[in-house]
Amino acid sequence: MAGVVIVGTQWGDEGKGKIVDILASSADLIVRFQGGSNAGHTVVIGDKKVILHQIPSGILSPRKKCIIGNGVVLDLEQLLKEISDLKSQGYMKDDNALLISEEAQLVMPYHKKLDVAREKARGKGKIGTTGRGIGPAYEDKVARVGIRLIDIFDPEVFRSKLEQALPEKNWYLTRLGEEGFDLDAIFQSFREMASKIKKHVANTSLVVNEGFRKKKNVLLEGAQGTMLDVDHGTYPFVTSSNTVAAQACTGSGIGPTMIDRVIGVSKAYTTRVGGGPFPTELNDETGERLREKGGEYGATTGRPRRCGWFDALVVRYAVRVNGIDSIALTKLDVLNGFSTLKICTGYRFRGKTYSEVPSSLRIWQECKPVYEEMDGWSEDISAAREVEKLPRNAKRYVREIEKLIGAKIMLVSIGNERKQTILLENPFKKVHTGKAKKGR
Ligand code: IMP
Repeated sequence: MAGVVIVGTQWGDEGKGKIVDILASSADLIVRFQGGSNAGHTVVIGDKKVILHQIPSGILSPRKKCIIGNGVVLDLEQLLKEISDLKSQGYMKDDNALLISEEAQLVMPYHKKLDVAREKARGKGKIGTTGRGIGPAYEDKVARVGIRLIDIFDPEVFRSKLEQALPEKNWYLTRLGEEGFDLDAIFQSFREMASKIKKHVANTSLVVNEGFRKKKNVLLEGAQGTMLDVDHGTYPFVTSSNTVAAQACTGSGIGPTMIDRVIGVSKAYTTRVGGGPFPTELNDETGERLREKGGEYGATTGRPRRCGWFDALVVRYAVRVNGIDSIALTKLDVLNGFSTLKICTGYRFRGKTYSEVPSSLRIWQECKPVYEEMDGWSEDISAAREVEKLPRNAKRYVREIEKLIGAKIMLVSIGNERKQTILLENPFKKVHTGKAKKGR
């Protein structure tokens, strides 16, 4: 039995989908614990490419139970589409494979419209959200006016909650120059979706805890990345949820004593989508080369991702705030053919060098990166299946990252496909061998 959490260590898009897909083969339950359809987890299996937004990537492995936890903000319309797309690709043959928390908050149509309208109104200062209504939905949760999945199964409760929420939303939308929504139309469409989703709805905290009691392996899958965490990220250029490992507990209804290991996923370079500081960003040919070689276009919005060198301060910080045991390093193959590689080891601001990420947005925005340079490699490494088979400079690059971030690398990914993976340590097996924390 083991509880393993997977989180992103940068600004999202680190390749968590692939890592979850690989580790899911050793897990029994896979739980998504925050975020919503802003996420886009891409998994490549043979010649098939599947992009998942709300359903845990574990759904692609047969006989696993996948859970959308209470910490997620659920876009029902998107979810029903995702389920039907999966089924048409031959996945999710068993409806019992997916359970959704009855406590999950719903992303309502007015949340999405507000998200987009507000961004438009912000002009130059916009955050660059995905426009999926994530911020407004989490705001309503905290303001205690959100609508939870369970509410739509009771017509009286649902209507009264809508009557409470909608007039204020419509007022706000009109002020932003948008049209409001008709209550009956929303009511009707959600009642229809309720009947379609009902078979998946459950008390998932009970299911996950029961899983632990029965000594199952549980994989807790985070979305976005540490630097997009609403507390620990580059605020206000963040998402509206906690993306760090601690959220795996609150977002799925388990206690911290259930967690045995935390795996961080890091890209071998850095990317970011949307606005906000990014000290190692490359607005030049090198950045363009990373984007093209890495296929760095958003899985949810299709936006080109901003690209830059690996930032050791960011990942070391993620190791700290998540309590990361080891790192899965992805997309190392994208660096094939770069004669020189750079790793950021400090930020320079007003004559001072910082070795930890700052809290001040000003420093984030105005600092200049301090780099360490390394020789690259010219060989194609995507066929390597052992670390020993990597070119000498690729091994040096990996070891240098390990040293700078203060965490071991447990996996190196060198291509999109499952087989293009060098697994150095299976976190579930490690727990079974008794090397990690003893069972409870
Ligand atoms: P929101 O989550 O849509 O509100 O967007 C807030 C910020 O988080 C924006 O900069 C988005 O681009 C970014 N973001 C949200 N989800 C993801 C993701 O899955 N990958 C990368 N960036 C994301």
